[in-house]
Parts: sequence; structure tokens; C-alpha cells
Amino acid sequence: IEVLSVASELYPLIKTGGLADVTGALPGALAHNDINMRTLVPGYPAVMNKLTGGRVVAEIADLFGVPAKLIAGRVAGVDIIVIDAPALYDRPGNPYVSPDGWDWSDNWKRFAALSWVGAELGQGLVEGYHPQIIHAHDWQGGLAPAYIKYGPSDRVKTVMTIHNIAFKGFFGPEIFSQLRLPPHAFGVNGVEYYGGISYLKSGMECADFVTTVSPNYADEIRTPAFGMGLEGLLNGRADTVMGILNGIDIAAWDPATDKALAQPYGINNVHLRRANKLAVAERFGLDGIDGPLFCVVSRLTDQKGMDLLLQIVDGLVDLGARLAVLGSGEGYLEDGFRHAWARHPGKVSIITGYNEELSHLMQGGCDAILIPSRFEPCGLTQLYGLRYGCVPVVSRIGGLADTVIDANPAAIAAEVATGVMFDANSAHALYEAIRRTVRLFADDKLWKKIQRRGMKSDVSWEASAARYAGLYATLIGQKIDDSS
Ligand code: ADP
Ligand code: GLC
Repeated sequence: IEVLSVASELYPLIKTGGLADVTGALPGALAHNDINMRTLVPGYPAVMNKLTGGRVVAEIADLFGVPAKLIAGRVAGVDIIVIDAPALYDRPGNPYVSPDGWDWSDNWKRFAALSWVGAELGQGLVEGYHPQIIHAHDWQGGLAPAYIKYGPSDRVKTVMTIHNIAFKGFFGPEIFSQLRLPPHAFGVNGVEYYGGISYLKSGMECADFVTTVSPNYADEIRTPAFGMGLEGLLNGRADTVMGILNGIDIAAWDPATDKALAQPYGINNVHLRRANKLAVAERFGLDGIDGPLFCVVSRLTDQKGMDLLLQIVDGLVDLGARLAVLGSGEGYLEDGFRHAWARHPGKVSIITGYNEELSHLMQGGCDAILIPSRFEPCGLTQLYGLRYGCVPVVSRIGGLADTVIDANPAAIAAEVATGVMFDANSAHALYEAIRRTVRLFADDKLWKKIQRRGMKSDVSWEASAARYAGLYATLIGQKIDDSS
């Protein structure tokens, strides 16, 4: 089966979060299921610089007012089609925001263009290339299913994956006339949303199938508390919505071979992690490694519950623990951790910015990773934590609840516990979970068991790739039925 994935991020070319990890790993995982996946990505500088030996497969004279070339190539084992349109994508900063921190004012156009090209490829733009499924990710790809639905041929099937329902890609109605959609697309069954246009809603409305990245989040977003205004739409099409859990690339994330570690290790010698703990302590300027070392590797935002952690960080130190934070995001949160550092030098520390290599070292050296998210569609850092024996301490929410087994007395007795879980959105619950973790850590034998069990849990793509493959096959089967 031939699938075109339409995505604004793709690891290792361009990454701001988990979306890139997923779109980067999925093609390789699907290859084992006879799925041939290509990925359409915008030609940001980071992408163009890594693209060598590509060939031009199409030229578009007028891509929302600018010329563009489509370049097909293969980078880091992934087949890609890049939209080379410098006027839209050749800019500094991250994919969405200028270096001074503002969303690009023409983001509506930049990602309409991404979606539009995806849909055109689904309708035969390049001779000899006929994807059977267009798989769009998040709001940036959200218009692709709409362009197919309202396009000349809707034979190609569409899947919309929600990685985060909080980002709706909402724009004012004034852009509609430039979107290249027929007038009747501006309606509740099309792209309209509260008087404007939501790209995510468009995809969720127009796609043949909607998926999200964990079964629990799929249930949660059908309720007002998590659906953020889209729960009605989802309930209206509940039989074509499904949660498929993310996996991780277990080759890129393997503590036995990871080049970013000071000391590789495996399930039978977790004690070797000590050398990595020392390395983390050194990088963060911590004053020793006795007692548990907690870490955070995260965007610092409201979603991630970092304000809750700041409320109780003094308590964490009083429990004899240390905290190393790697992250960037909201200024008041970065400042909050800097202040905590000033209050507790040697015990709390933050490195701001984005550092892939350091994130590996932290998973390989810290004792536990804190993930106090208010909502979490899937979450990947708890999966990396499991794989690396960095015990996840997570809120009972979204994909976190689907992937971690709380070390309550029953789970400890049954020997199934892999982490610690607490009620979301409560600083008190977070503090109690940290206290419980500190106690577990003090029982070295039990702690190592929990670590090793986590390292044994299946966090690979295998099962989930098979589910995507099954979904694609079913959709194509539906198509054959339709035309008969
Ligand atoms: P989200 O996509 O909501 O940010 P995920 O847990 O799905 O959350 O994915 C986050 C990804 O980004 C993980 O691969 C994590 O290791 C990585 N990450 C987050 N912040 C940083 C950082 N400051 N440096 C390096 N990697 C980071
Ligand atoms: C989003 C979500 C995160 C998920 C990631 C990949 O960024 O916030 O929970 O793991 O997408 O699907």
C-alpha cells in the first residue's frame, strides 16, 4: 500500500516535539507491514541543507502566489518529498515562529500550501506516483483531507491524526477566499469553525478516518474537558475515530548502543547507569549523586504542568532529591526554575534550549523522569524513560495512563509496576508521588526491579504499526466496495 504522510516535522530533519519523532519513525516501522510511506515536508532551511541528491518531480508555477518545486529524495532512511518554496519556508527560527518569538503572519498560507500539495499528489500531480492514502498530521496537514473532499477526485482515502487537539490552526474568515476551496466548503461540514477556519477541525471533519495517539486520549477528547470544543464532532463520528498508541524508535533509543551516553548499559547491568548519573550531575552542576535524581525533558508550557512542579520544588529538595531540568518555553517557567536553582544551588538546575544528545544522557543517568502533564495525547518521554530505566513519574492522563503501571501495593505484589502515577492538575498529588518515589528508590532491590521491568516493556512500534497498516487496508477495501 502506498501512503503519503503530510507533516510539518520529521526527525531527524526538523523537530520541535514528539510529532517529529512519530513521523520520522513510522515509515520504517510500516515498511515491515508492506506499507510504502513517503513524507511530504516543507523545505525549511534545516530540511534543504540535509537534502542531497534529490530530483525535481514537479514544478508548481503558482503555489499560493509563489513558485515551487517538489524534490523527491531519501534522507536518513526516509523517503521524502520536499516543497522547495523559499518564499514560504526559507526562514530562520523554528517551523512556526520567527526568531523573536512570534508566529509567522502567513502561517495560514504556509500550511495551506503544505496541505494543498499533499492533496494534489493524491490526485496524480506526479506521473507514476499514486498514493492510495493521504495521512495528514495535526493542524498543519489538516486542510489536505478538505482539499481531497472538495477536489476533482476523492478516490484517494484520507486519515487525519491528532497529536494535540489544543493546536487548532485557527484563522479568520478573511483567508477563505484565498484557500482555493469552493464556497460551500465554508460550512459546518467543511472547514468553518466558530465563524473562522480551523485547519485541524477541517481535517477531523473531512478525513475518512481520524486517529489520535493513544486509546485513552481518544476517549478523553470525546468529553468537553479535553475535546476543547471538538468533542461534538468526534462523538458524531465515533465509529471512525481510533486511538493508536505511539511507539518509539528502539534502535535510535537503545541504552546498550547509545553514543550520547557516558556509559552504555543493559537490563542486566543497570548499576552501570551510575556513570551516566555522574555525567548528568557534572553537566548540570549538581553537588553529588547520592539520593534520587529526578529530571524533566520537556517543552515548558501549561500543558506539561511545569507550574505545578515549581509549586513543590522546595519540597522535592527537602525530601533529599535533586532535579535536573532540560527544556525551553514560557519565560515565567524558565525563570521559575532559575529561581529554584538560586534557592537550591547544587540541588536544582536548569539547562534551557533544545539538546537532543543531552536528553539521551538524562534518560540514561537520571533515576526518574517527572511528567506532570495536564493533558498528554501520548507522550514519548515516559516511553524513553521506560526503555532507559529512568522510572516515569506521570499524571494519570492521556497516553501516560496507557503506558505506565503505577507502583501501588497490588502492582508491586503482582510484579507489574513500571512507574508512579498521580492525579493530574494537582501540585499536592505531584508532591505525594515524588515522596512515594523517594521511598521506592530507598528500597534498592525493589527499585531495580521496577527499572528492569520498564526496560522490558514493549515500547516499540511493532503493534501500533500493524494497527495503522490494518487501518489503511480497511480504508482501501472500503474504496473498492464503494466503486463496485
Ligand atoms: P510534545 O510533543 O508534546 O512536546 P512528547 O513527549 O511527545 O511531547 O515529545 C517530546 C519530544 O521532544 C521528546 O523526543 C523529547 O525528548 C523531546 N524534547 C523536549 N524538550 C526537549 C529539549 N529541551 N531538548 C531535547 N529534547 C527535547
Ligand atoms: C504531541 C503531544 C504528545 C505526543 C506527540 C506525538 O506533541 O503533545 O503527547 O506524544 O504529539 O504524537
